Amino acid sequence: MDIKAFIFDLDGVITDTAEFHFQAWKRLADEEGVPFDRADNNQLRGVSRRESLNRLLKGRPIDEPTAEVWLERKNTYYRDYLRTITPDYVLPGVRRFLDEAQRIGLKLGIGSASKNAREVLERLDMIDRFGAIGDGYVVTNTKPAPDLFVWVAGRLGVTVSEAVVFEDAEAGVAAALHGGFHVVGLGPADVSRAHVALPDLADVRVTDLLAALRQAKV
Ligand code: BG6
Ligand code: MG
Repeated sequence: MDIKAFIFDLDGVITDTAEFHFQAWKRLADEEGVPFDRADNNQLRGVSRRESLNRLLKGRPIDEPTAEVWLERKNTYYRDYLRTITPDYVLPGVRRFLDEAQRIGLKLGIGSASKNAREVLERLDMIDRFGAIGDGYVVTNTKPAPDLFVWVAGRLGVTVSEAVVFEDAEAGVAAALHGGFHVVGLGPADVSRAHVALPDLADVRVTDLLAALRQAKV
């Protein structure tokens, strides 16, 4: 196993914007009388804004012009939360983990379904840390399709088997597995299909993680 790059999802992995996405959807759902709770929200992790609305509606019909208005509203609510983000919003241990990865020569990339990803990285003061940033604009097929992570791996100049993807979403873990990546699952959603699953990166050392992946896989 020759690992040359780490590719990180953003929302819920680098920073807790997953909570902001939840709050923004919750506000829209409450205003529209659509039942929605945290368990429902876990199914929205990692998927595009449009697909999130489908999942939130659980089969309730909506015409396309209304859907567009709702999506715009949700994004406005979400962007209000984004204004509060400072560099302190990076999740515990993440900066140290990235430092360690860079020190041992690994390339770093972002693979996020979000069209707001670049703004979030700017606000975290992290935009310059990544050699490739794949966001909600770079591919058509969103997670669980592997396209986004494959695009990032290509930009970093590594093969899929030389890269580890870090994900907090079931759809993201599936995307990375479809692509043939090594996968680390993080957080409270069901990431049990990942090769290694951890609550967070707070106390994780890169060398220990690489050893765990080596044991778990091939
Ligand atoms: C993902 C989030 O990173 O981006 C999803 O996990 C979100 O919850 C998706 O729906 C799209 O984000 P945005 O910012 O383009 O609405
Ligand atoms: Mg995520």
